[in-house]
Amino acid sequence: MITHTSYAVEPWALRERVLNLDVLPQSESVFALSNGHVGWRGNLDEGEPHGLPGSYLNGVHEVHPLPYAEAGYGYPESGQTVINVTNGKVIRLLVDDEPFDLRYGRLRSHERVLDLRTGLLTRSCEWTSPAGDTVRVRSTRLVSFTQRAIAAVSYEVEAVDSRVRVVVQSELVANEQLPGRNGDPRAAIVLESPLEGEEHFAQGGRLRLVHRTRRSGLRVATAADHAVTGPEPTTTSGESTADVARLTVTSVLEPGQKLHVEKLVSYGWSSTRSLPALRAQADAALASAQHGGWQGLVDEQRAYLDDFWARADVEVDGDEEIQQAVRFALFHVLQAGARAEQRAIPAKGLTGSGYDGHAFWDTETFVLPLLTYTAPGAVAEALRWRQNTLPAARERAAQLGLGGAAFPWRTIAGEEGSAYWPAGTAAFHVNADIADAVVHYTAVTGDKPFERDTGVELLVETARLWRSLGHHDHQGRFHIDGVTGPDEYSAVADDNTYTNLMARTNLLAAADVVERHPRQAEALGVDDEESAAWRDAAGSMHIPYNHELGVHEQHAGFTSYQRWDFATTRPDQYPLMLHFPYFDIYRKQVVKQADLVLAMYKCSPYFDDEHKARNFAYYEPLTVRDSSLSACCQAVIAAEAGHPGLAYDYLVEAALMDLRDLENNTRDGLHIASLAGTWMALVAGFGGLRHHGDTLEFKPRLPERFHRLAFNLELLGRRLRVEIGPATATYTLVSGEPLEIRHYHEPVTVEVDKPQGLRIPAPRLRPAPEQPPHRRPNSHG
Ligand code: BGC
Repeated sequence: MITHTSYAVEPWALRERVLNLDVLPQSESVFALSNGHVGWRGNLDEGEPHGLPGSYLNGVHEVHPLPYAEAGYGYPESGQTVINVTNGKVIRLLVDDEPFDLRYGRLRSHERVLDLRTGLLTRSCEWTSPAGDTVRVRSTRLVSFTQRAIAAVSYEVEAVDSRVRVVVQSELVANEQLPGRNGDPRAAIVLESPLEGEEHFAQGGRLRLVHRTRRSGLRVATAADHAVTGPEPTTTSGESTADVARLTVTSVLEPGQKLHVEKLVSYGWSSTRSLPALRAQADAALASAQHGGWQGLVDEQRAYLDDFWARADVEVDGDEEIQQAVRFALFHVLQAGARAEQRAIPAKGLTGSGYDGHAFWDTETFVLPLLTYTAPGAVAEALRWRQNTLPAARERAAQLGLGGAAFPWRTIAGEEGSAYWPAGTAAFHVNADIADAVVHYTAVTGDKPFERDTGVELLVETARLWRSLGHHDHQGRFHIDGVTGPDEYSAVADDNTYTNLMARTNLLAAADVVERHPRQAEALGVDDEESAAWRDAAGSMHIPYNHELGVHEQHAGFTSYQRWDFATTRPDQYPLMLHFPYFDIYRKQVVKQADLVLAMYKCSPYFDDEHKARNFAYYEPLTVRDSSLSACCQAVIAAEAGHPGLAYDYLVEAALMDLRDLENNTRDGLHIASLAGTWMALVAGFGGLRHHGDTLEFKPRLPERFHRLAFNLELLGRRLRVEIGPATATYTLVSGEPLEIRHYHEPVTVEVDKPQGLRIPAPRLRPAPEQPPHRRPNSHG
């Protein structure tokens, strides 16, 4: 658990006031810097002590065989895992023969601050060596949003009260030794020395290492250059071996004197480019960063973030901790997606190696909705990445005997990486999630070229999958049997409501889009018969329902399973999958994560208010939230179903997932979907935003603790500002043409300079349903 006393609550920063080595691995995740292309964990400058050293490049992975006790047709044979690449952030310090290592000597003060407005991670500390010499160290680190191949460190050491000899070693280090896997299947596989040296170089302040992965055939070039200022005489020298390139700076500091080292680092990687080409690429990126220097990078970073916050900030009055948490969340989601540019956005972003660096449906279902309204360019890029992986998805579908494309449940490069069929490939809903993200993005942005060049193909190929995966029964009803929905505690089940409803949207969207883009449709071989079949399947989609209970089935027959024995399940037996066999979990009524409840948000118009309330009340006592993806979905429907207090508690859980390490695995990386879910709980939960087709509706209602909630949405070339108070909601069009919205079903037109203040109707509150014993949401305290 990240002890809260060491983290201050403040609106625009995450500040750690004391260094607590017990929670060092978690702090490395929350202080991670990334732009979606390059990621550096918040490791201490000197490299040690560390929890998990981490430098990641989006897409740089190694492959490994996936062993099976008993082989089966269609099992993926090769797994992919993210690797720790060349570490460019290491700056070691020697103070009069003593290594600056916080485990020795006396640490007088230590503070780290992640400033969410400047995008800089600063560290300042005062340390007395075992021999009694005191130094001040200040470092500032950034991973540039504007120059995606660039990261940089500004490092300063100052003598405090005695004359000291200092040696600073600024390094590039490959194949760092990593701690072993901790037994949690969600942690990454550890590969020994995944990088093979191809070239090393050091001259003056200029360093370079080029490596290749052994099996996946990726080449990685890392280059660095330095600017050094210190008292005369300060000397420098460079040296390199296959895995280390080092600049050594030596100086003698009188009390008050400082040695300053600025380090710019560039990365380049490729599966196809030659060594000379990649070397040149890394050098060119460095030259471009040197052009404006450290200060140029700092200024650009600030400008980039000013622009982002003007679009994306969410203001929460009355709850400082949630205010901080939502900005922390927005910042990290931006970091995960900003410059991913046709590469995946992994479940942990580039903050750790958890889940082997894989991307899941988390991207389309949780991360992209937030980015669609705040950084839409990143969404188009993320979906283009899916389009680029269509060849692998088509091949997978063919292998499975299916039509169209079957996107992987988990992957880095596009191939299915899930060795486990029931909670892997069978979770076909990922295809509808991708389609839904396409539909949502085009509805919100009106990006026609994207729809034509990317949307059509994604919608058509996913619709083809559903058409081949499902079948019409003798009464003409369309069923999709034997699939896994979002709830991984039910597997290979028939007619999962979420999957069927999302597939329905997918099929209809495909039929509509081919009408708008006949040339593209023809090129993909779509004819009238095929699109009519999609409409037909969508129109007769079976949605299972229990008439006696008056609730929707999570999947056919679910409500008649035996209930899980919650009463005898001890608190330490959660998550269930680590303590009970899956066969038993699968055949009982127990829900890992929002499934039917998520369907009620994503496919909101299908459910009336009464069913939303009844279904929620039915599934709450069965839902154990063994996935961090659940709380935010439950927050949204709890708010809609008349339980604002419960919704608030779920919001807190989603928002503080990493800041409080609620799942005890923040060390492996941040829970990016839950961070994005913080925005979802606020905007879709308390803001009541639902956006389906052309209808943009709000049903706002604040929880007791909030005085005000305000957020912006970018849509169709406009900026809409929504400010919610306890009794009224005010909609302001900041820019763009008039826009029609709905406030509690009532149509309202908003125009620039004419804010609309509307009354929030009296709530219909209901008694909050119970959760399983020991599974109440985590709230403040
Ligand atoms: C959840 C999945 C999710 C994955 C990665 C699992 O625990 O059940 O829904 O995609 O984690 O976040």
